[in-house]
Amino acid sequence: MVHECDTTDYMDQLSLSTKSARGGQIVPTGGGVGAEIRGLDLRRLDEEGFRLVHRAWINHQVLLFRGQHLSAGELIAFSRRFGTLEVAPNQETGQRFVEGHPELYIVSNVIENGRAIGSLGSGEAHWHTDMSYLTDPPKASILYALEVPPSGGDTGFVNLYAAYEALPAALQARLAGLRVKHDGTYNSGGYVRHGLTATDDPLAAPGELHPLVCTHPESGRHMLYLGRRRNAYIEGLPLPESEALLDEIWTYATREEFTWHHQWQVDDLILWDNRCTMHRRDPFDAMHRRIMHRTQIKAETRPSA
Ligand code: SIN
Repeated sequence: MVHECDTTDYMDQLSLSTKSARGGQIVPTGGGVGAEIRGLDLRRLDEEGFRLVHRAWINHQVLLFRGQHLSAGELIAFSRRFGTLEVAPNQETGQRFVEGHPELYIVSNVIENGRAIGSLGSGEAHWHTDMSYLTDPPKASILYALEVPPSGGDTGFVNLYAAYEALPAALQARLAGLRVKHDGTYNSGGYVRHGLTATDDPLAAPGELHPLVCTHPESGRHMLYLGRRRNAYIEGLPLPESEALLDEIWTYATREEFTWHHQWQVDDLILWDNRCTMHRRDPFDAMHRRIMHRTQIKAETRPSA
C-alpha cells in the first residue's frame, strides 16, 4: 500500500519522489501536471492505500499507474471507489458499449464486422474537459489501455489551476462572474454527437453554461473551466468580443509548461480530475489498433464559482 510520510508536511513530500514504507511510490511527472504511482496493484488496494491515492489525485490532478492487469469488472470496481459511475454516453454511431457493463465506454479506432467498436477514431482529439456540456459533468475519468499503436496516440493533460494563476490580475478580475457555454454539438474528435445537428454558430449551438472560473470543491483552489474551444461562447458578450476574450484565455490554458504528455503502454491506467484539467490526444496511424476502456465518476457538486 501507499504510505503517508509521517515526518514533514505531506504536500511537501508529494512534490518529491516519495518512497513509502511498504511499496507505493509517488513520482511527479516532471511536467506541468500529474504523478506516477509505482508499485501498486489496484486490485489489492486497502482502505488506507485508497485514501492516500485519493489524496495524491487531488494534489497532482492526474495519476498514472503502469502494469495493471484489470478485467472490465476490476476496472469498474476500482472506479467505483471514487463514487457513483456514469452510464457511458452513446458512441458517435449511437451504439452502446460493452455488453453487461453500461459504465464502460470504448475509445478505439478498431472496426469489427464493419462496425466501429468505439469512439474517436485515430485522429487528433482536441483539448477538452469530458462531458462539460452537461449540467453535471463527471468529476473524474479513468482510461485503461488494452491495445496501443507503436507510436502516436499520446494523451496530453493541462493544469487549469496553473493556467488561472498565470493570468494577469486584470484578466482574472475581468473573468469574475462570467459564464461560458460548453458546446454539446461535437465530441473532441470533431464528430457530431448522436442525434444533434452540425453547427458552427456559437450562439445557436446547444450546450451548458458554467462559470469561467470555478472553485474546486475538494482543494478549494480556483481554476479556469473552459470545456472546449469549438463553439464556446461567453454569455452576454457580442460574439467578436467573446471570441477575442476566449482566444486570449486559451493561450494561457494551453501553455506547454502547464502540460504533461503520456506515451501509452498496454496496461497503463490514468485517472484524471476532470474539474481542474483538460486533455487531448495525438493522432496515430489508422492501420494500427488502439483500444482503451474508459469509466467516469459522477460529481457530487456542480461546477461553481
Ligand atoms: C478522450 O479524449 O477522452 C480520450 C483520450 C485518448 O484517447 O487518449
